[in-house]
Amino acid sequence: MSAPSWNPHPWVNDDLRREAENLVNLLTAPLHEAIAGADERIALPAAADETLAVLQEHLPETGNGLKTTIEQLLDLQLKAGANTSGPRCFHFVIGGNTPAAHAADLIASAFDVIAYTWVVAPVAVRLELKALDWLKELLGLPSTMAGIMVTGATMANFTGLAAARQWWGEQQGVDVSETGIAGLPQMPVLTSGYVHAATRKVLALQGIGRGHIQQFTRDEFGRIDLEGFARGLEALDGAPAVVVANAGEVNAGDFDPVADMIDIARQHNCWVHVDGAFGLFAALSPRTAHLVKGIDRADSVTVDGHKWLNVPYDSGFAFVRDHALLARAFRYSADYLPAEDDPFPTLGAIGPESSRRGRGFAVWATLNAYGREGHRRIIEHCLDTASYCADLVNAAPDLDLLADVQLNIVPFRYNPGGLDDKQLDELNQRLGQAVLDDGRFLVGTSKLGHRTIFRPAFSNWRTRPGDIDEFIETVRSLGQALSA
Ligand SMILES: Cc1ncc(COP(=O)(O)O)c(C=O)c1O
Repeated sequence: MSAPSWNPHPWVNDDLRREAENLVNLLTAPLHEAIAGADERIALPAAADETLAVLQEHLPETGNGLKTTIEQLLDLQLKAGANTSGPRCFHFVIGGNTPAAHAADLIASAFDVIAYTWVVAPVAVRLELKALDWLKELLGLPSTMAGIMVTGATMANFTGLAAARQWWGEQQGVDVSETGIAGLPQMPVLTSGYVHAATRKVLALQGIGRGHIQQFTRDEFGRIDLEGFARGLEALDGAPAVVVANAGEVNAGDFDPVADMIDIARQHNCWVHVDGAFGLFAALSPRTAHLVKGIDRADSVTVDGHKWLNVPYDSGFAFVRDHALLARAFRYSADYLPAEDDPFPTLGAIGPESSRRGRGFAVWATLNAYGREGHRRIIEHCLDTASYCADLVNAAPDLDLLADVQLNIVPFRYNPGGLDDKQLDELNQRLGQAVLDDGRFLVGTSKLGHRTIFRPAFSNWRTRPGDIDEFIETVRSLGQALSA
């Protein structure tokens, strides 16, 4: 019998290899354009749909080649991509990228790092655990809390509330991760009107129900009615319940009174989850730390990395007081996978994702490069940006500031005078679209109580005073044109 032989296809064996060897050279210019050009690139290019029409082509049979593909991608992104990491993006709550975080994320991609378990990811697992320890120090959370990196605050809420649900089942002698929740009573979930849509989505996914949430509000803004909340807990008569406290709401950057909510919850049989997606970073500055007083007593906490830590998307963190509870909620084992009692950690077995990116690279790198001091400066830079924006709003005769600015969001509306609330809502809605169509700024509108508002959120170290001057001028001049 002749010796086995195998000749791989030369395109696979030789051509792809040569391309891989030359890849970094091809990427130097595009990376330079993407990162060094972020300050000056427009926030939202015009006619994106026309540019993107090329994406209607059929699957190519032989392919267009690497060089062409990189050129096409760069062309699409430059002509039609939103510059969300640039200095003039104030939409949603979108952070920038520190250079160290950006570099580390690129390195993690270059090595195609995975962070499932020790054996395939000794560096990524260690970096993630170290970075989570540093985050606990930075944010004032107990060092005993378990942590896990996820895609963002939605999945961090998913993780914290999965632990809550597991605890709630166990209070009734049921391991819900094994047997499900059928047959159990509804899990009570109590919160304020500040609860984020992400929490509702999570409750939908976990079989609790998006609509099954009790909101105790005392006004149209959603501020908590603490007495009603306390009465709601008393009415449960000792039955276990989950409380969601919201540290940072998205319309005006206000906070639930987390410490008071925890004081009340501790008189009952409650799990307290704090959604601090961006608000938890208030802990970094002595100017705002009072807003998050009490979070160290929470049972689970959500924080986002891609918002105010300024690490690239996607990046979020869940902290849970009890590692064993997480391990029971997210148990993941099979003969070919690490044993549950393996002394080396398997991060894929204490969180929702099994295969996962090396998110710890960017988080560790930015904390290592800039430390607590650097990140405090970034937070205070954004607080100053928000105060400056609020000052310009207050100084403009045709702009109304609609709430005190406590953090990084400035709720205001354009008001040329002589219009009622309904007409102002309609005008600000149209103005919101006009600002987006203009393209220089990426900013959103929302509702504060019954009023339509602009709600620029400042979470990027790149934003400069001149960007805010131009933003306010743009809103005012487009507003004047619309209401002329
Ligand atoms: C308070 C809060 N919770 C949850 C989320 C959802 O975060 P993500 O988009 O990172 O999943 C956000 C996003 O803005 C938020 O502000």
